[in-house]
Amino acid sequence: MQGFPYRLEQRTTLPALIEALVDQLEQHLLQRLQQGAGQKPLGLATGRTMDPLYAALVRRLSRWSREDLELLRRGWMSFNLDEYLGVSASDPCSYRHYMERHLARPLQLPLSRLQLPDGQAEDADAAAQAYGEALMRHRGIGLQVLGLGGNGHVGFNEPPCGPDLPCHVVKLSAETRHQNAALFGGDPTAVPEQAISLGLREILAADEIHLLVTGSGKASILRQLMLSSEPNEHLPASWLRHHDCVSIWADADALSQL
Ligand code: GLP
Repeated sequence: MQGFPYRLEQRTTLPALIEALVDQLEQHLLQRLQQGAGQKPLGLATGRTMDPLYAALVRRLSRWSREDLELLRRGWMSFNLDEYLGVSASDPCSYRHYMERHLARPLQLPLSRLQLPDGQAEDADAAAQAYGEALMRHRGIGLQVLGLGGNGHVGFNEPPCGPDLPCHVVKLSAETRHQNAALFGGDPTAVPEQAISLGLREILAADEIHLLVTGSGKASILRQLMLSSEPNEHLPASWLRHHDCVSIWADADALSQL
């Protein structure tokens, strides 16, 4: 498809799309091994879209030699986008638990090298600021993986949202709590009201960004994103247009309204 403001990587089926993105991630991780210490952290996302990606990445990396896997573990550093507030790290609904389940334990990554905001901080604003500062001490994100919320959010940057907002405490919209209710027993009121999220400021400062959008449930918002003429605060993902190295990875179902 021509004429869209983003580089579009499309594959008909979900497995083919996921494998193509895993190819890209594997290349990036191999380069990091070759370049040695001092690499910028990976930026990681959670959510149902990421389930097959992490499963395929684990399968792929499990084929690496024992030596390379050991190097990967030793040099691992990732910063996740967001975390719910008021959910303990051991709660299966927390994003920390998600990352440990889907990535850290299968790959035996050192848990301390997977960074997420502190969802149990007494002073959430201070924790958000500290998380943003910790990322800056690592010189920001190298490669950022993103999913897309049904209302156009990235991370938990809910509309309306500008491009300069740093890591902050977010009040989750009713739509987002509804969207994520399945993970909380189907009850939207069980979804926390707040989260800490990296802002568009940190996301747009990443060296490269890969936005993964799959399934017919995302077709409408992906259409809006692809056709929006100017970035605007009602569609937070539209600020990605200000970045010069963004790829959108989409399957046929997600592209079905274009
Ligand atoms: C969630 C997360 C995002 C995620 C998006 C899509 O609320 N905060 O990081 O990418 O919304 O979620 P899903 O992949 O479950 O559709």
